[in-house]
Amino acid sequence: MSWKDEYKRKLCSMKEAVSHIKSGDRVVVTHACGEPSAMLDVMVENAARYENVEIVHMVAMGGAKYCLPEMEKHFRHNSLFVGGSTRKAVEEGRGDFTPVYFSEVPNLLRTTLYPNVLLMHLSPPDEHGFCSYGISVDYTKPAAEVADLRIAQINKNMPRTMGDSFIHVSKLDHIVEHDAPIIELQPPQISEVERAIGKNCASLVRDGDTLQLGIGAIPDAVLLSLKDKQDLGIHSEMFSDGVVDLVEAGVITNRCKTLLPGKSVVTFLMGTRRLYDYVHDNPEVQMMPVDFVNNPAVIAQNDNLVSINSCVQVDLFGQVVSESVGLRQISGVGGQVDFVRGANLSKNGRTIMAMPSTAQGGKVSKIVPLIDTGASVTTSRYDVNYVVTEHGVAQLKFRTLRERARQLIDIAHPDFRPSLIEEFEKRFKSKF
Ligand code: COA
Repeated sequence: MSWKDEYKRKLCSMKEAVSHIKSGDRVVVTHACGEPSAMLDVMVENAARYENVEIVHMVAMGGAKYCLPEMEKHFRHNSLFVGGSTRKAVEEGRGDFTPVYFSEVPNLLRTTLYPNVLLMHLSPPDEHGFCSYGISVDYTKPAAEVADLRIAQINKNMPRTMGDSFIHVSKLDHIVEHDAPIIELQPPQISEVERAIGKNCASLVRDGDTLQLGIGAIPDAVLLSLKDKQDLGIHSEMFSDGVVDLVEAGVITNRCKTLLPGKSVVTFLMGTRRLYDYVHDNPEVQMMPVDFVNNPAVIAQNDNLVSINSCVQVDLFGQVVSESVGLRQISGVGGQVDFVRGANLSKNGRTIMAMPSTAQGGKVSKIVPLIDTGASVTTSRYDVNYVVTEHGVAQLKFRTLRERARQLIDIAHPDFRPSLIEEFEKRFKSKF
């Protein structure tokens, strides 16, 4: 049978597609802006037919209605990265959180959270019958290699991304055509504080460096401060619209990269239609599975790799909390530690934790004598190097505890320095 006939045979309605999910199944879902949210909505509309279905994914962007209290009997969310719409379910014990490095999610799915069903979101097939995983290749491709049942939403708005980013129609079990707009993430408003953090981070970036950037206002502010650099490269878990500006300005060329020169390497994308149009059919952007992109040994093959991530709290020893506020799980490790480790192994690599010096409208310092009770250390004091706030740069690696504390107090908010100095003098039995 030709792939075209196979495609027609597998076509069905969304309602029929989700009817193949059975009570007790584990359903893995493509995440972030690549989420097939229309399919999840239809699954939730038909909740009465399911009991105890486990929904596994990372970043939820489509509302996560299966996390609502009234869905408790039908669905239980197992989160690999808690976010706005899933936080409450985890906090109230109606959902679970599994701590896992992003690079290890494929292994988690192969060995422990074996998917009965995979719900994914693909581009239409090319003339050979290959669909692209589009803007979320990360764990979707590895999951498709092991799932019992593969259900795909085919959407002509999904960009056809290049790289190790394709699945053949013959590997799909059920196909739904649905051309909804792809979820977009609008560029954030950048405050003066974030602009200052961006400038301080940019002072650590050199011409020819390869960058990993997280998500949000700080990475965007860093990109704004890089307009005068030359020949930057990208090897990053994700990127957003800010990278397109720097490619168009001729700043990102990937020319000096020591791994896959000439290519931006990435595992998922979140941004606006402008980003999605930029990556469509663009061989300069290589979308690869996350166990390649985030593998510290692969990251380290990039000389001059600079990783820039954000965090919630740093104590005076340099322990970094990035995913919890006290006992409250607010996100996950994502690729932070993957890239910190990779950057530490990279020749001339640098790892940066960038954060505003205060949180909650200036009421609390993010630099603290001790981390909050119950908080989890995400990046250890052995791995951390540069910490950046709007007040400057602290360089912690290979420094004594006293030197670390002194440098961190120097970049804390001035309102909190006196109490931190008092703590310093008590702890180190010496004048600041
Ligand atoms: N004390 C108390 N509350 C704090 C706090 C602190 N020190 N720091 C942050 N918070 C609160 C904020 O007030 C906010 O609460 P709200 O949602 O009720 O308003 C919440 O925590 C989130 O903080 P915010 O500063 O808005 O987060 P952000 O969107 O800038 O993201 C991280 C910051 C650290 C949560 C995010 O970068 C992350 O999840 N990092 C880990 C994963 C990672 O690095 N991945 C790699 C690349 S994608």
